[in-house]
Amino acid sequence: MLRAAVRWRVPVAPGESRWCRAGPGAAAEAEAEPEPIRASSPGLRRRLRGLVVVRGGFVSPEEAAELEAELEPLLRGRRYQFDHWDGAISGYRETERGRWGPAGRAVLGRLSAEFPPERPPRPLVHVLDLHRRGHVAPHVDSVKFCGCTLAGLSLLSAAVLRLRSCRTPAQSLELLLEPRSLYVLRGAARYEFTHEILRDEESFFGERRVPRGRRLALIYRNDPPDLTPDPLSDLSTFIGGSAPPAAPQ
Ligand code: OGA
Ligand code: MN
Repeated sequence: MLRAAVRWRVPVAPGESRWCRAGPGAAAEAEAEPEPIRASSPGLRRRLRGLVVVRGGFVSPEEAAELEAELEPLLRGRRYQFDHWDGAISGYRETERGRWGPAGRAVLGRLSAEFPPERPPRPLVHVLDLHRRGHVAPHVDSVKFCGCTLAGLSLLSAAVLRLRSCRTPAQSLELLLEPRSLYVLRGAARYEFTHEILRDEESFFGERRVPRGRRLALIYRNDPPDLTPDPLSDLSTFIGGSAPPAAPQ
């Protein structure tokens, strides 16, 4: 189960050109610009409005304490991995959890509103425990295992998440992830940008240093669309624009 998790990530070297599937950008919603996001240009910020969201204080201190206490015994017995073959992540241990106490169930309920109703978050949540010296290198979550939306709840330490355009690497965003905050990546932000969690030495939000301690992340993903949707039984997938590109004739 743990090994399978590495397939979620597809490492991408800086500047490497790779094919990125266009996401359902039409899902963009009008909302006020959240503060904890810095973009390399105002145009980029406008383009990704609604596709990149950070919600501070998404869980209460009591809920955070309950989640941490629930996860600690599951993680304690595992060793941090520092040299993984796929190079996408270092200094981590991880698990998946589907049975939650009251706080975990409440979070899943609230967070479902961030996902399209027809593609809710999977109940099996990815729990990533990043060592204070650990980091997540730039990658795009595999389109085979993750759908159009992913959301991450940060616990324990603050961190900086960087998004970088696969096509135009000069275009990037920084997200300041305070403990108890939730970030959401949708559509183009999820498919056309790599995401990474910066290592302690590089952990800056603009000029502001964001020291990295041990960080726990609960990562919620939805299922990808079927690779061969049937237009008659799955019309909304076609109309919604989230179907994969048609196979070459
Ligand atoms: C991942 C990932 C980000 C985070 O595990 O694929 O991108 O918030 N994690 O820890
Ligand atoms: Mn990822």
